[in-house]
Amino acid sequence: MQPSDTPPVEFDLTIRNGRISNADRTFFADIGVRNGVIVEVARGLPAGKQDVDAGGMWVLPGGIDSHTHIEQLSGMGVMCADDFYSGTVSAAFGGTTTILSFAAQHRNDRIPDVLEDYSRRAREKAVIDYGFHLILANPDEQALMHDLPAVIDAGITSFKVYMTYDKLKLDDYQLLDVLAVAGERGAMVMLHAENHDMIRWVARRLLERGHTAPKFHAVSHDPLAESEATHRAIALSRLINVPVLIVHVAGAETVDIIRKAQHLGAQVYAESCPQYLFLEAKDSDLPGFEGAKFCCSPPPGDKASQEAVWQGFKDGTLNVYSSDHAPYRFDESGKLPKGDATTFKEMANGVPGIELRLPLLFSEGVMKGRLTLEEFVALTSTNHAHMYGLAPRKGAIAVGADADLVLWDPNRKTVVSAEMLHDRVGYTPYEGREIQGWPVEVYSRGRCVIKDNQLQVERGSGQFIARSRPDPVLNRRAPAEGRGIFSQFIGLKSATATE
Ligand code: URP
Ligand code: ZN
Ligand code: ZN
Repeated sequence: MQPSDTPPVEFDLTIRNGRISNADRTFFADIGVRNGVIVEVARGLPAGKQDVDAGGMWVLPGGIDSHTHIEQLSGMGVMCADDFYSGTVSAAFGGTTTILSFAAQHRNDRIPDVLEDYSRRAREKAVIDYGFHLILANPDEQALMHDLPAVIDAGITSFKVYMTYDKLKLDDYQLLDVLAVAGERGAMVMLHAENHDMIRWVARRLLERGHTAPKFHAVSHDPLAESEATHRAIALSRLINVPVLIVHVAGAETVDIIRKAQHLGAQVYAESCPQYLFLEAKDSDLPGFEGAKFCCSPPPGDKASQEAVWQGFKDGTLNVYSSDHAPYRFDESGKLPKGDATTFKEMANGVPGIELRLPLLFSEGVMKGRLTLEEFVALTSTNHAHMYGLAPRKGAIAVGADADLVLWDPNRKTVVSAEMLHDRVGYTPYEGREIQGWPVEVYSRGRCVIKDNQLQVERGSGQFIARSRPDPVLNRRAPAEGRGIFSQFIGLKSATATE
């Protein structure tokens, strides 16, 4: 057969004339998709059954948000306002095509029951792909010996553990137990690092003196609570040489501690979130209870801590940028459980951000020259895929990857308002901000999910992604440290492939 007689390759979808950015480079090409997977990236592809002209658009890998609280009971027993439908719809409108959310064990829960219930909720409602982390509140023998290994084998290859909150807090001994299992099995441990006793000691004294308003939430969480716990968490991780990921990093001293540990060869990774780049503690100093809309843990700091977080993203100390979307309404179901009598200690902790995560960073980071487009892609998508075992399926525009794609209009200007968002929170801490750049079309496994500002898919059409083992070797700054001499006497198995 002559080359000219070769039948043209049939694509289900082509996205043509776009300016494509991955974490490593930007180039012009067309994308050919078949059965939900990218099968060609080249110039001059023939039109597919569905042919999209992306001229003038920037085509990026779909966002991955690896820290979202969806349809989850908090440590204080409060149910989030977003279920898997509203949460994933809101994510998709903001350019995110994969979320990881938390199947949360509370102290008396059986882990298999938690997972069964959470899987059912997601399966019926999610419109984009999703995976789970397990929140572990009771690392007893059953959990350590049986449940965690089974969970990892089922594709839930990361756990979140807490150093604070009465009902979730683990002590250092328990943290070591969890880290050891994760190290043996190749899972990632995410740590909420705050010193519980520092916070409750200060909070009690504030309350005794009548300082109950939302602004005192930030006062009660001194940055030392975060930096001390982070230092301790890193020491525990170094003791047995098991990777750890510090989530929602807020403070300048904490960024510094993480950076120093990385330079020593510690296997420490870190996440930060929009609230630590774009909000400050003083935003919660508002009349009445309005400040509750800005309260999360750890709390945002000041201009200097924002600068430290930017720097941490820029120099690779902070690896992933997630929303920590914690959707609580401004009423008795969330922020104000006791109405006008609610103290800062009783408000549900957390701020919404799943839909604005990418647009805020695009506008303030890329458009204002703080980040390159490639760094934006790494922080919002590619690094999450490596950190949490989603690569090579997610996180890049490449042959063989899922066709999770976002067409960005870099010129579109938007004034943020709660009404334009698709979550069920009813407010946004970013109300009134002007941003430039918006994700105008969103594809998940080749399916058009968002177009013309309309949702195009059915509830339940998202898929559970069983994740492989995390591969967080990117951004290593020094060879991995060895363990203490004790390890040869107690038979710790190899913690990572890098040893
Ligand atoms: O305040 C926050 N971050 N609430 C959400 C729960 C958590 O600790 O991530
Ligand atoms: Zn947390
Ligand atoms: Zn969280």
